[in-house]
Amino acid sequence: MEPIIDIQNLTKKYADGYLALDNVSAQIAAGEIIALLGPNGAGKTTLISIICGLTTITKGTVSIDGCDVVSEYRKARSIIGLVPQELMLEPFETVLGTVKLSRGLFGQKADPGYIEKILRQLSLWDRRSTQIRELSGGMKRRVLIAKALSHEPRILFLDEPTAGVDVDMRRETWEVIKDLKRSGVTIVLTTHYIEEAEEIADRIAVINSGRVLLIEEKTELMKRLGTKQLSIDINQPISELPLTLADCDIQIENNGTRLIYKYDASMKQAGVTAVLSALNEAGVSILDLQTYQSSLEDIFVGLVAEETT
Ligand SMILES: Nc1ncnc2c1ncn2[C@@H]1O[C@H](COP(=O)(O)OP(=O)(O)OP(=O)(O)O)[C@@H](O)[C@H]1O
Ligand SMILES: [Mg+2]
Repeated sequence: MEPIIDIQNLTKKYADGYLALDNVSAQIAAGEIIALLGPNGAGKTTLISIICGLTTITKGTVSIDGCDVVSEYRKARSIIGLVPQELMLEPFETVLGTVKLSRGLFGQKADPGYIEKILRQLSLWDRRSTQIRELSGGMKRRVLIAKALSHEPRILFLDEPTAGVDVDMRRETWEVIKDLKRSGVTIVLTTHYIEEAEEIADRIAVINSGRVLLIEEKTELMKRLGTKQLSIDINQPISELPLTLADCDIQIENNGTRLIYKYDASMKQAGVTAVLSALNEAGVSILDLQTYQSSLEDIFVGLVAEETT
């Protein structure tokens, strides 16, 4: 299938010579939710700004549904909605006015029913006559989402949609994003919350120093995260494992006083009992036990650290 967003060898050098994107290529399929993860300054906003036609390209191409974002800017822009990272809103305008105006700017016919639907979805309907300046930061962010949706875009970019948004409101925003996906909208979001990517993304891309370090299906990533670890502190140091445990993935650490057993968390029979009883039979007495499961955060931190060392 043709990707709805096609990024080919994209490089961005800012006027001061800073290389913000370094030969980035990626294809995004219609209807998917992709989360861009990366530390501050990784290049996420730069990437989104280029796709949305707000920043110039140094090298490479980007097309949206077959339209080049530079030579066919207006056509490409008409199918995109953007929720920017910065809260840019007219303070004296009302919520309803802001969203209606935005629809008008895209040349779409007025549709009060549609605007009401999105404001209700984002719990802003009761605040429709309130001026923007009277809203809290989290509400302003939701007005930005409503504004981005005003012209019924097929692709929505959300640059940190839940930054500064409380836990309940974050969950509500996730529901709105999932609903949009169900209605066929393709979604690209950036986030610093790994939990957010875990919760809503189909694919995850990790970006650091202008390069894409990883782009993978979330379920595949999660499978890799299936390894659990049991750490066993023992009374007397040992130099060798009891023979009955020779086939298990167990390492001896801490001068022989700690055993690290790795197993697949999805297995019904993890073998933990077998390991413990084998130790017991071999006369090894156990002082303490701890289990540990790696997370997406570990992968992310590991990848970024690898890059910077
Ligand atoms: N207009 C500009 N001129 C020069 N450098 C810029 C400009 N805009 C961004 N940069 C630099 O490009 C790099 C990438 O910035 P960008 O805003 O894309 O990062 P980001 O991944 O969105 O970070 P954050 O998570 O903090 O939002 C940063 O080092 C930033 O300082
Ligand atoms: Mg950013």
